[in-house]
Amino acid sequence: MKELNVFFYMSPRKKFLVGTLAQVGPKIYFEYAPSFLDNPMWLSPYKLPPEPGLTEYTDFEFGKIFGLFDDSLPDGWGRLLMDRFLRKNGINTDSLSVLDRLSFLGSSTMGALTYEPAIKQQEYNGLIDLQYLSDQSKQILEGETSKALPQLLKAGGSPQGARPKVLVGIYNDLILSGEDDLPAEYEHWIVKFHGKNDFEDAGAVEYTYSLIAKESGLIMAETKLFETDFGDRYFGIKRFDRKKNQRFHVHTLGGLIHSNFRIPECNYMTFLKVVLDLTKNRQDLSRGFKQMIFNVMANNRDDHVKNFAFMIDDQWNWSLTPAYDLTYSTGPGGEHSMDLLGEGRSPGRQQIFKLGEKIGLSKNEIKDSIDQVAAGVTKWSSYAESAGVSKETKSYIQNEINKNLSNFAIKHQRIKQPSQGRKMSGPSM
Ligand SMILES: Nc1ncnc2c1ncn2[C@@H]1O[C@H](COP(=O)(O)OP(=O)(O)OP(=O)(O)O)[C@@H](O)[C@H]1O
Ligand SMILES: [Mg+2]
Repeated sequence: MKELNVFFYMSPRKKFLVGTLAQVGPKIYFEYAPSFLDNPMWLSPYKLPPEPGLTEYTDFEFGKIFGLFDDSLPDGWGRLLMDRFLRKNGINTDSLSVLDRLSFLGSSTMGALTYEPAIKQQEYNGLIDLQYLSDQSKQILEGETSKALPQLLKAGGSPQGARPKVLVGIYNDLILSGEDDLPAEYEHWIVKFHGKNDFEDAGAVEYTYSLIAKESGLIMAETKLFETDFGDRYFGIKRFDRKKNQRFHVHTLGGLIHSNFRIPECNYMTFLKVVLDLTKNRQDLSRGFKQMIFNVMANNRDDHVKNFAFMIDDQWNWSLTPAYDLTYSTGPGGEHSMDLLGEGRSPGRQQIFKLGEKIGLSKNEIKDSIDQVAAGVTKWSSYAESAGVSKETKSYIQNEINKNLSNFAIKHQRIKQPSQGRKMSGPSM
């Protein structure tokens, strides 16, 4: 039998035991600690409510372990790094259990849950060079094992998501590898490198999306383009699961309701119902609703259940997290990962109104949300120009946005052809 203790790590000086995971043969169990149940928190209200006794995990269509802990495990990029590293050290990854993987992460997790006993990892907390790590991450994507594997693993092993990325500490121009606690003056950020199928200027594109999202009334953490000495630019976003070294509990939509992000089975109606039920807050509902409209208008079709999340905030209330991972994407088979009342290919005004009314929003609220998001999204070209997106990428995305806006009967932005050599007017940033 393997056992692993789960802690809620609030800050370097304060943590408490949540409970114990156990594996007996192929079976996985979890039991909340009696001390936790004295004053319980609802960390995963739908699938793991705080109740005494053992709960056996049985939801294998979702994954190998309860969503609460699955959200600590990296998938795409982070998992690839972990496997490479372990194999290089002679460990057969086929024989590893999820508990082994959680134990390998230890306290290097996103959110607030940490795992003990932790398997000791190689320490690396020094200054890092983004250009170097990006080059090394490219090698890894191409199938080679890079020299910087331990450093990359330490800096980028735990977040979910497909693209290469690193967790860093930022203080003015200094960048530290930053998975664990940071020196006092540093802030926690994520910096994303380019994936295999990304635009050359993917960093500037995602940065522009963050600008138009904010203009659309969405809440997002601070974002920035990090430029290297070689002129490459990478998208960075401040982490909302950290405030200095204080940690916040974050749970993805997928993890909360046990919906597998690889199977597009969830839809926006379910998402909005969860927002309302969990947060009991109409402001969060309105935020989630605008996020949906933004994804439709701005062609962010990678809107799967791990790209929406909830957190327990400063006041110990559940809230919808700030938006993240907003960028141009075509989605599975050209459709949105989550559909709007069955429409995934070209949803528009009609579906938004129907869905909004079903979830209890007034016609005026719906109309105002559409107008506000449209006002932000129609700024794509001017913001893209200021952010240095190439003319080709800018026009290509503008064209796709125009198609989406036509489903709202909203006037298009005219696309100025790069060959005309005319400058777009853009806001100063
Ligand atoms: N600002 C943030 N603060 C805290 N956590 C974040 C933030 N942005 C992203 N994350 C977490 O990191 C994970 C990876 O980020 P993101 O979704 O941007 O990467 P990605 O590789 O582009 O993902 P995908 O595979 O969905 O395209 C997210 O699923 C989320 O859990
Ligand atoms: Mg993502």
